[in-house]
Amino acid sequence: MKDNNYIAILDFGSQYSKLIARKIRELGVYSHILPFNTKASYFSKEKNIKGIILSGGPKSIYEKNAYICDKNIFNLNIPILGVCYGMQLIAYHFNSEVKKASKEEYGNTTFYICQNSPLFKNLEKNQHVWMSHGDCVTSLPKGFEILGSTTNIKIAALCNEQKKIYGLQFHPEVEHTPCGKEILKNFIFEICGCSKNWSLENFFKKKIEELKKDIEDKKVLCALSGGIDSFVTAFLIYKAIGKNLTCVFVDHGLLRYKETENVKESFKKIFDIRLNIITAKERFLQALKGIKKPERKRKIIGLEFIKVFKDFLKNKEEHHFLAQGTLYPDIIESGNKYAKTIKSHHNVGGLPKNLDLKLVEPLKDLFKDEVREIAKKLNFPNEIISRHPFPGPGLAIRIIGEVTEEKLTILRSADHILQQEITKANLNKEIWQFFAVLTNIKTVGVMGDKRTYYYTIAIRAVTSTDGMTANWAKIPYNILEKISTRITNEVENVNRVVYDLTSKPPATIEWE
Ligand code: XMP
Repeated sequence: MKDNNYIAILDFGSQYSKLIARKIRELGVYSHILPFNTKASYFSKEKNIKGIILSGGPKSIYEKNAYICDKNIFNLNIPILGVCYGMQLIAYHFNSEVKKASKEEYGNTTFYICQNSPLFKNLEKNQHVWMSHGDCVTSLPKGFEILGSTTNIKIAALCNEQKKIYGLQFHPEVEHTPCGKEILKNFIFEICGCSKNWSLENFFKKKIEELKKDIEDKKVLCALSGGIDSFVTAFLIYKAIGKNLTCVFVDHGLLRYKETENVKESFKKIFDIRLNIITAKERFLQALKGIKKPERKRKIIGLEFIKVFKDFLKNKEEHHFLAQGTLYPDIIESGNKYAKTIKSHHNVGGLPKNLDLKLVEPLKDLFKDEVREIAKKLNFPNEIISRHPFPGPGLAIRIIGEVTEEKLTILRSADHILQQEITKANLNKEIWQFFAVLTNIKTVGVMGDKRTYYYTIAIRAVTSTDGMTANWAKIPYNILEKISTRITNEVENVNRVVYDLTSKPPATIEWE
């Protein structure tokens, strides 16, 4: 990880910063995302940073409160690559002009390379690239030269070879720029001189050794959610400290059909230690009584989890650590004061002081698909590897308004039918996540000549790569019809089913 040579990415708020980080890791070099205003002194101290990438960003360079980096980073003698906004920042710093483009460009365009450069080694002169910008660089900074143009913009790539500073107006990190990976490869190996050092095998071997050293002979509590992140977290710690790991699964009563049984089964296949099942339905439902607001529900559930752990540990041998399956994107998002809180995920943001446990988060440098790769390498059962994400607060955030036992029963039955039909239709793989939501709306219906006044179930299904953005899934009508018919026939108190046709953004995946 950071003890090897690596690339730092300064994040100016682009939705693609993480993609840059992923692409670089795929090329075998560790990458780390830092806030845009990281001080140059940080880079001077971190001797293993071999290159800096300035990401894109939603702002315009001349906007009030535009994100500007520490100007001293341009004097560090570390190679720099600016992408889109990052390139405009380079031009701005070197006193040239950035203007609103005569035509905003979003999408594919042809890029013509007009100058040889190590950045474009092995590339044909004409390339399809993907643009997404409103501004562009209109005059060349002193000491720089143009590397390439498009029909609309003359300075689509620039460089100062001597200072090893490069800029690209297009996005090399997206799939729609087929040569993008080659460009990033040239930057990190030809220009920054990195050596390949990042592999998941190395990661988990090193991580196990690190955990052994950090934890020593102390005891760790790990709460499993049934998801891949907590399973891999528990496994790495198990490999490091064996029986000093205590695994728990909290049944908060907000789970799906047969969830506890399924988690127990999967656990048995991987571990030969005991899984402690804590049944805590009563207390969670009691704590949620009368609570209607989504954020309040989330907070209450988070707090209740902590109380449950505390009670569980009361009569046990002393535990010093609590393990969590926090991932890198969670850290980036919650650590960024420039991003607004949309929802408070209760597994991010530390622990209350009175719990008296230190956090151990072995996956906090990894992306979700890297965790999945590790699980595959560890031969985890398929049901864990392919399990769709399920939120910590469970069905509570899929019941709009107050959570009651009656509503939980309705939602669980509807969700089970949905699971069965999607599995039968073999759509599990192409749909990233799907679930039923119990809306707080009752409508009039007719069943066997009788008027009904029952609940409406909404079906949510999305395609996505990482849950950050998502499209609503185009489930065939006949499957939707089957789902709707079964739900209204088989689930009591439901007489209407609707399908959610919204992508993220503007909606989020969960309804609360
Ligand atoms: P949203 O609704 O924010 O969801 O678009 C993105 C992904 O995160 C999951 N999610 C959560 N996961 N604790 C979790 O562990 C939470 O509090 C939480 N809230 C949302 C959601 O299911 C989706 O996969």
